[in-house]
Amino acid sequence: MTRNARLKHRMKYKTLKGFQDILPPDILIWQNIETISRDVFRTYGYQEIRLPILESTDIFVRSIGETSDIVEKEMYTFQDKGGRSVTLRPEGTASFVRAYVEHHLYNHPAPQKYYYMGPMFRYERPQAYRYRQFYQIGAEAMGVEDPKLDAEIISMLTKILSGIGLKELNFELTSIGCKNCRPDYRDALKNFLRDKLNSFCSDCQRRYDLNPLRILDCKVPDCISSRQGAPQVIDYLCADCKKHFDGLRHYLDILKVPHSITPNLVRGLDYYTKTAFEVTSESLGSQKAVAAGGRYDGLVDEFGGPPTPGIGFAIGMERIIPLIKDSMKPSEGPDLFICCMGQYAYEEALALAEQLRARRLWVEINYDDSSLKSQMRKGNRIGAKHVIVIGEDEVRNEVAVIKDMITGTETQSRLEAQELVKIIKAGS
Ligand code: HAM
Repeated sequence: MTRNARLKHRMKYKTLKGFQDILPPDILIWQNIETISRDVFRTYGYQEIRLPILESTDIFVRSIGETSDIVEKEMYTFQDKGGRSVTLRPEGTASFVRAYVEHHLYNHPAPQKYYYMGPMFRYERPQAYRYRQFYQIGAEAMGVEDPKLDAEIISMLTKILSGIGLKELNFELTSIGCKNCRPDYRDALKNFLRDKLNSFCSDCQRRYDLNPLRILDCKVPDCISSRQGAPQVIDYLCADCKKHFDGLRHYLDILKVPHSITPNLVRGLDYYTKTAFEVTSESLGSQKAVAAGGRYDGLVDEFGGPPTPGIGFAIGMERIIPLIKDSMKPSEGPDLFICCMGQYAYEEALALAEQLRARRLWVEINYDDSSLKSQMRKGNRIGAKHVIVIGEDEVRNEVAVIKDMITGTETQSRLEAQELVKIIKAGS
């Protein structure tokens, strides 16, 4: 039995199903994506907002919708020690709107633009690209109803995705109407479904009266086939929604954002009005949405704030990383590894390492009395870009040889931070 196999056998604790650790070097890819996103957000005037992970359960029930899969089946809800029902956030928009109203952010000039990054929790059946804890990068823009803002935020999303290096994505767009046109559509849909109701699952039969639009989101194969030919909301838009949708498409063309209309796009959250979209990748199989979002013009009002339109999106980190992992190679190792022979050398190396780190280099030193050969091997294994050997002679003469591990070039240098930095920077 190998050492790893033996230890695995003894291992007592593991991550929960659907949860994962994100370790180096992969974390460098995560950080890279976050940096690229922050840069794009800044140019569009989005500011970061950090929201709690735990919220009152009501916040999600009221906004995402009582009959949505998320609220019905997927929330991590429990009672805290004070007997309150609390929920680990399954998404960011509801928490964001709660904060927007709580802090009267609507008093600031519109549009107010915010972004967030962090974990979300849904008790879904784990499978490839679907986790129970997953990370989103989200953005929300408040206070402007005009489709110019929809086009701008969508364009920003495409900038982030292309900046990260994602290619061959489909941008699927639709309008799902508003509270004025939705009742007509709801009636048309119910008329269509009425005679076929027996062929739907029991959940859908229950949804027929409560929220028939949710039937369009059911994943049960019989329900999918039975709803073929159902009327589409895009054909029932009121004049205002239609004008808004046409405007959005016009501005997307001006901004050269390629998109396709997917009339039967169904979002899993009930708060959407008008614009709804998903960005998908065929490489991801059944969990193909890498990002999604839409408008939610009624939500601030619903949360007790003044009627304020809003629009946003969220990108799923675990969905984009597999698509770029090969092209975004994480940077591998320290700028310098210091091999040390003898006590004097260690004293010199410790102080030198501090000076080099103060000049922003990543420096590692050896800590034990192993042979020079084994220390060199270690430098190689950790991917050091340069290695320097310090022994008693080097300390006495105040010079040492620094080796560029990529080119093999050896350069003599004084044991002095500034000179070493110059050599290392020239090499990297
Ligand atoms: P959503 O479509 O539920 O929208 O999620 C957005 C993205 O999060 C999905 O497209 C997907 O990439 C990722 N995602 C969702 N569930 C999982 C999961 N179980 N495992 C891995 N990734 C997942 C929202 O959450 C809305 N709050 C977006 C929004 C913001 N709309 C307006 N503003």
